[in-house]
Amino acid sequence: MCGIIGYTGSEDVKEILLDALELLEYRGYDSAGIAVKEEKTGETKVCKCAGRVSDLRMICETEKLLSTCGIGHTRWATHGGVNDSNAHPHRCGRVTLVHNGIIENYRELASDSGLTDKLVSETDSEVVAALLNYYYKDDPKEAIKKTVKRLTGTFALVILFEDCPDVIYSVRNVSPIVATLCKEGAMLASDLTALCRFTNEYFVVPEYHILELHKDHIVMTDFDDHVVEPEFLTVDWQLNAAGKNGYPFYMEKEIMEQPLAIEQTIRGRIVHGLPDFTADGVPDHIFTDCDRICIVACGTAMHAGLVAQALVKSIIHMHIDVELASEFMYSDPVIDEKTLVIAVSQSGETIDTLEALKYAKKRGATCLSVINVKGSSIARESDYVLYTCAGPEIAVASTKAYTTQLSVFYLMTAKMAQLRGIFTEEETLCFIRELERTPDTIKEVLESRKEIHIVAKKVLSAKDLFMIGRGLDHSALLEGSLKLKEVSYIHSEAYASGELKHGPIALITQDTPVVAAATQEKLLSKELSNIREVKSRGADVLLFIKKALAGNLDQEYEVITLPDMRDEFMVLPTSVALQLLAYYVSSDKGFDVDKPRNLAKVVTVE
Ligand code: AGP
Repeated sequence: MCGIIGYTGSEDVKEILLDALELLEYRGYDSAGIAVKEEKTGETKVCKCAGRVSDLRMICETEKLLSTCGIGHTRWATHGGVNDSNAHPHRCGRVTLVHNGIIENYRELASDSGLTDKLVSETDSEVVAALLNYYYKDDPKEAIKKTVKRLTGTFALVILFEDCPDVIYSVRNVSPIVATLCKEGAMLASDLTALCRFTNEYFVVPEYHILELHKDHIVMTDFDDHVVEPEFLTVDWQLNAAGKNGYPFYMEKEIMEQPLAIEQTIRGRIVHGLPDFTADGVPDHIFTDCDRICIVACGTAMHAGLVAQALVKSIIHMHIDVELASEFMYSDPVIDEKTLVIAVSQSGETIDTLEALKYAKKRGATCLSVINVKGSSIARESDYVLYTCAGPEIAVASTKAYTTQLSVFYLMTAKMAQLRGIFTEEETLCFIRELERTPDTIKEVLESRKEIHIVAKKVLSAKDLFMIGRGLDHSALLEGSLKLKEVSYIHSEAYASGELKHGPIALITQDTPVVAAATQEKLLSKELSNIREVKSRGADVLLFIKKALAGNLDQEYEVITLPDMRDEFMVLPTSVALQLLAYYVSSDKGFDVDKPRNLAKVVTVE
């Protein structure tokens, strides 16, 4: 939602803050700003603007900012438009802060405390700065406690007090803050991406604890002033993993990293050829005790859940729901102690998913999460966690997180089938062997990316586009359609092929390209007849088809053949091909593929 960074130490803080904000910009990129404590005077200097971090960097070049202590912020607007005044940091009197989250009662706070006429922005965050200044009587922690007790909503606050040179204060509720102490000094950030350049040791700041960053030490206290020692974790990301490594966009790099990401995700969870979650601390009984499964997630993570649903229904013959996390609590879900709730999230910070998980826990469900970021809020809220090993995913459009989530679900399906006596050991071994072919199969798709780039050019000018498929192909196309929508701004809709003739086919014209997928042998003939229906109405068809089925084509289509896997695994190569399609359309249109308009990588507002 927003990116936050803070540093105090021995180094020039301006470059550290600006470099970190570039790494955090994927969290929100409407505007950016920094506040630093002047080395000589201790005065707080603020530089901020609407626009990208590159615009902020230009402004900072004109300012003499000699400092080793400061905070920074990249914004995804919630309250107030995108302009310089609403950019963070916000200063009021002797307090300067940056904020990630939403303060729901900010208007009442401003009017009740007579602060309204002191405000210059439209933001909830500035009200917090004004309240902190109101309570600040030379004791930062007292001011923080008094202020926080009046806040309703979510917040990660990072604060500078005028009279406390070199010290950064922070407190959070729901919105994330991670911190570390390294040789360069003490740092905190919204997520690890900004810290992993300096260290792979970090800790998560607990909610309602006050963190003090000093140049050479950290103090953390609860609201009763008890000192609490940080619980350090180790991040196993490669330190340079957060860079582009020569690719023009993170999205391309992350698409190309999928074979390795999948290999790392399944490695260690296959023992003697069989699925094994022992190393994850996930006991087998959670897969046998439950009589229903409910997956809660958003966006791409929800699409991964749809694939899991198809696998569990077809192989385990068990009831499994996939719920949009944002709808979950309001849809009277059937959840009890016999339900296994699985939260899926790349960031582990999506508040819709976090709140859904908390709701499920209250209803007695066993909660397992499939998460990419260690120590994230959803991971900490779960009874059990299966981490994907995708490494940092910076592009807003999720790619390697999705295919590694699928990999976990294939392992989980095999595990459940084996435990419930649905698969014999030999059938389980065969299923896992097919999963182990995935990295090489995806490499084959990546090797055909030039071919996909060529056909991508045929949809560059499309305003509307349909994606049609049946069964697992439909699930893959829902994700492929989201990818295309969010990075190319083409209005793409994915439909179950058989559903098109019940209304939407009215929209098919010669100006409406159709992307079709046909990888499920048992559905091929019906899929081909649906494709003929749209072609006969003038649509140009781009067909992604499993190689072994390509011999059945009786008409001319733009065809991308996909390397063969067992039908139930074909969603993996199909999805990677669709990711490449979306990527090339967006990059050929000249868009900033990694930072699509209006979006942010992590949505921490409901
Ligand atoms: C994916 O391309 C989107 N950017 C978005 O739908 C994302 O999957 C969704 O916001 C969920 O994020 P999470 O996996 O971090 O919870």
